Amino acid sequence: MHIKIENGMVSFPFSVSIDSVTGRMDDFDTHTERHLSSLVDLFMDPDAAKDFLKSNGDAIAYEVYEKNLPKVNGDIRFCSSITYPGRIGDEYFMTKGHFHLRRDTAELYYCIRGKGYLLMEKEDGEAVLEEMSPGKIVYVPGYYAHRSVNIGDEPLISLPVYPADAGHDYKTIEVEGFRHILVAQNGKPTVIENPRYGRMRK
Ligand code: PA5
Ligand code: NI
Repeated sequence: MHIKIENGMVSFPFSVSIDSVTGRMDDFDTHTERHLSSLVDLFMDPDAAKDFLKSNGDAIAYEVYEKNLPKVNGDIRFCSSITYPGRIGDEYFMTKGHFHLRRDTAELYYCIRGKGYLLMEKEDGEAVLEEMSPGKIVYVPGYYAHRSVNIGDEPLISLPVYPADAGHDYKTIEVEGFRHILVAQNGKPTVIENPRYGRMRK
């Protein structure tokens, strides 16, 4: 289905469906697969991630289906975000995470399937974890970087919705990292300080 755009904005209603088991969007425009090989430096122990790749192959850690909606003020964007279960050492599979380029823009996550957390963190290091389970809606205020973390054994599927002109700032996280990360300790998800914070790139 073609989205109708007039004066740079969507001008006619449309609908899509997200499969609640697979997370696949039926009428997507863009599909992004994030393979582990592209995320090695994101983990606390990149060498463990490389070993994992050698033994298990280059699995997809998460993927996103979305509509190409105009990135203009007043419009909204949304996607289906699917993070697969797994761990590198003690660290759970997760999304890269980002701040919004427009720091003051908020976002809403609606969880469709799975078990995990949304890790949110301000630039000053204040961190908040909100549980993600089917039916949960998590409100991410502006100024919080956010990342999905799958602590379960099935895909963690959510529908994020955000102002279309929010923009994604991945660079800050790629360079600095999150100050906090979520790891399994004695089988329980536990927040610890990121030992690589501030020096994610060697
Ligand atoms: O905008 C969002 O917060 C989401 O749509 C994410 O982009 C999605 O979950 C993928 O994560 P990331 O953008 O961190 O790669
Ligand atoms: Ni976002």
